[in-house]
Amino acid sequence: MSSEKRKIAYIDGKPYEIGPNHTSILKFVKSYVGEKKVPTLCDDPNLAPYGACRVCSVEVALEKDGPTRVVASCHTPVAEKQHIFTTNEALTSLRKNIVELVLTDHPMECDTCEVNNNCELQTVASDLELKITDITVQNNIREFQETLLTIT
Ligand code: SF4
Ligand code: FES
Repeated sequence: MSSEKRKIAYIDGKPYEIGPNHTSILKFVKSYVGEKKVPTLCDDPNLAPYGACRVCSVEVALEKDGPTRVVASCHTPVAEKQHIFTTNEALTSLRKNIVELVLTDHPMECDTCEVNNNCELQTVASDLELKITDITVQNNIREFQETLLTIT
């Protein structure tokens, strides 16, 4: 039997053992509670990297009931005794805001796009109950308003 002490961190209140492949909070969470628990964008090989999209944000406390801070789970190492919270109202709102921002700057040409229907951006937007058409309309309105501002 190994004399090495098992290292435990908590996902939404439940304890899990940190393994050698868990190089980030995201990998740790995915391996125990599924691929879809925490959304990602710039972690997706089908898309050009967005840099620090932060869609994968989770809340982490360093002790039970301790203060939490929001971290990008794909960039943050998992550590012993962390309490990781994957879902709550504030995180959903943060993720929605981020994806809305990404969509407003994104050429929505899904019909002719090679990853149409196999696209993490579409999936994440849909999981967050964002309607891409609404965002497109908002984008058009924004462009219209910007055009109006240039008219003197
Ligand atoms: S399928 Fe649509 S949302 Fe996805 S990358 Fe292509 S254009 Fe963008
Ligand atoms: S998936 Fe984009 S910052 Fe983590």
